[in-house]
Amino acid sequence: MTHTRIAIDGPAAAGKSTIAKRVAAKLGYLYIDTGAMYRAVTLYTLENGEEIIDEIEDHIHITFGVNNEVYLNDQDVSEAIRSQEVTKNVSYIASLEKVRTYLVDMQRKISEASNVVMDGRDVGTTVLPNAEVKIFMKADPEVRAKRRLLEEQARGNNYTLEELTKDIVRRDHIDSTREISPLVQAHDAILLDTSHLSIEEVEDKIIRLVMKHLEGDL
Ligand code: CDP
Ligand code: CDP
Repeated sequence: MTHTRIAIDGPAAAGKSTIAKRVAAKLGYLYIDTGAMYRAVTLYTLENGEEIIDEIEDHIHITFGVNNEVYLNDQDVSEAIRSQEVTKNVSYIASLEKVRTYLVDMQRKISEASNVVMDGRDVGTTVLPNAEVKIFMKADPEVRAKRRLLEEQARGNNYTLEELTKDIVRRDHIDSTREISPLVQAHDAILLDTSHLSIEEVEDKIIRLVMKHLEGDL
């Protein structure tokens, strides 16, 4: 049986995970947040030192729960991986070859077993280059920073718009210019600018593309 794989890539706060989760729930597909995996590795290295990366497979085991919780060595780290400390360091950790090889391999294995919606930076280019539906999601930096501000406020954090804009621009730069599988739009990905679209509108556009594919039209 062939599976349907939906790859959603793009810069920070474009709306990837929010939409990917909804699309996966609607279609009954598995949702894989690859960014959460890089964040989990970053959390572990902050607590245990970067040298563990040489034997990453002996130290780090990542799984997802039924409600998309992220488990690092059987501990729920869903909240801990969203801290600013992790956010500050994740793009550096994600640029390391050993980390990428380990996680990309894990991501491919997960997608072999079921229909998936996977979001990240290199899903359409590297992890699943033959994905049936590929989306590259973007939004204006000011819009993305404002979205992040609302999220941080909801968490009770007092970051300024300026701080969050700086972080987004800095991460996008590291992610787009790194040597190994940088953030770029795959040549066969469909570009979706979400700056002026609601969550429902973006979700609807992607569901339509998937339906087109399932009907043999894409
Ligand atoms: O949600 P947000 O946009 O803040 O980031 P994320 O998707 O959780 O990803 C965090 C970081 O992980 C990114 O800034 C990248 O440095 C890295 N990442 C990556 O290198 N490759 C992926 N497939 C996913 C994330
Ligand atoms: O995964 P990524 O970093 O691309 O974005 P996200 O974590 O899904 O965050 C995007 C934020 O913008 C969330 O708080 C969404 O509620 C909001 N948002 C969106 O995702 N899409 C829109 N069209 C409008 C708002």
